[in-house]
Amino acid sequence: MKKMTSAELRSAFLEFFRQRGHAIEASSSLIPANDPTLLFTNAGMVQFKDVFLGREQREFTKAATSQRCVRAGGKHNDLENVGYTARHHTFFEMLGNFSFGDYFKKEAIHFAWDFLTQELEIPAEKLWVTVFEEDAEAEAIWLEDVGIDKNRFSKIGAKDNFWSMGDTGPCGPCTEIFYDHGEHIAGGPPGTPEEDGDRYIEVWNLVFMQYDRDIDGTLTPLPKPSVDTGMGLERIAAVLQGVHSNYEIDLFQSVLTVAAKLANTTDLNQSSLRVIADHIRSCAFLITDGVMPSNEGRGYVSRRIIRRAIRHGYRLGIQDVFFYQLVAPLVKEMGEAFPELKAAQAQVERVLQKEEQRFAETLGQGMKILEVFQVM
Ligand code: GLY
Repeated sequence: MKKMTSAELRSAFLEFFRQRGHAIEASSSLIPANDPTLLFTNAGMVQFKDVFLGREQREFTKAATSQRCVRAGGKHNDLENVGYTARHHTFFEMLGNFSFGDYFKKEAIHFAWDFLTQELEIPAEKLWVTVFEEDAEAEAIWLEDVGIDKNRFSKIGAKDNFWSMGDTGPCGPCTEIFYDHGEHIAGGPPGTPEEDGDRYIEVWNLVFMQYDRDIDGTLTPLPKPSVDTGMGLERIAAVLQGVHSNYEIDLFQSVLTVAAKLANTTDLNQSSLRVIADHIRSCAFLITDGVMPSNEGRGYVSRRIIRRAIRHGYRLGIQDVFFYQLVAPLVKEMGEAFPELKAAQAQVERVLQKEEQRFAETLGQGMKILEVFQVM
């Protein structure tokens, strides 16, 4: 298996799909354009929603992106898990390839398998595949065409293998690829009672976009069957960097080191440090994209995330206003891939500093202690 930094991985992914005729598009904002149904951009397909629905035409029929995503609030909400599992984040980057009525299941599956096993040289025996239980076509492509081991394959129901962006909108059956981090980690393969452990981690989800779901749950076929895939950059980086937890990859190191210094600790594996390292990413990018902390809507979610980070700082014994000091190390790691973050650095720092001062002022010391030990 190759060893790669997150930046190399991002480039390798986009280059792989560029060579296969995909337009490489920039990440869109975390605020979905003209879409009141969605709190935040929670997947790579969001900027293409209207293309899938046939309401918008682009000059290409296939594309690839590395999309910044937030999953906190709304349908895909990972907030409470963050810091306590190896793989959940409020903010992450999703690598994705998309077909708008161009290729469908067969090509999508082959692209994914080739990228993982040939381009990244991940051994096939470390991968596990699931399909939607009613999708005989995808099953046949995997078992007969690609020829994967049927002992590393399972059929799963709609709860996990039928993906939708939100309560309404484009959706369809999916096939997922998991990486087996090894038997030293607790957890069973997908589809077994032990599946919730962290041993088998889903790295790539290939959605066969076929329907538009309306508010009553009615599924109307899309004008053209399409493909929407999502692979978490942090998860696949963990695989290629030989670590189990996403927090151990290169992208987190500068932020974790500075946070640990502020907390006067050398133990980088503490949950509270991980929460803070995760939350600075969503908070900084939300402010970059214009979501200011407030008491309603998106701003309220942003305020909740900031306060959760600050509480974890208190829990670590940090006394000073600290959260804004993590913007600089974040910009060091991610400013090149996201120039908009770099450009907004001073403003992000100002907003976070003010928000933390305000929070500290509104809390009496007694309240502070109470809040710190509330469920986080
Ligand atoms: N849109 C595919 C995913 O988020 O998994």
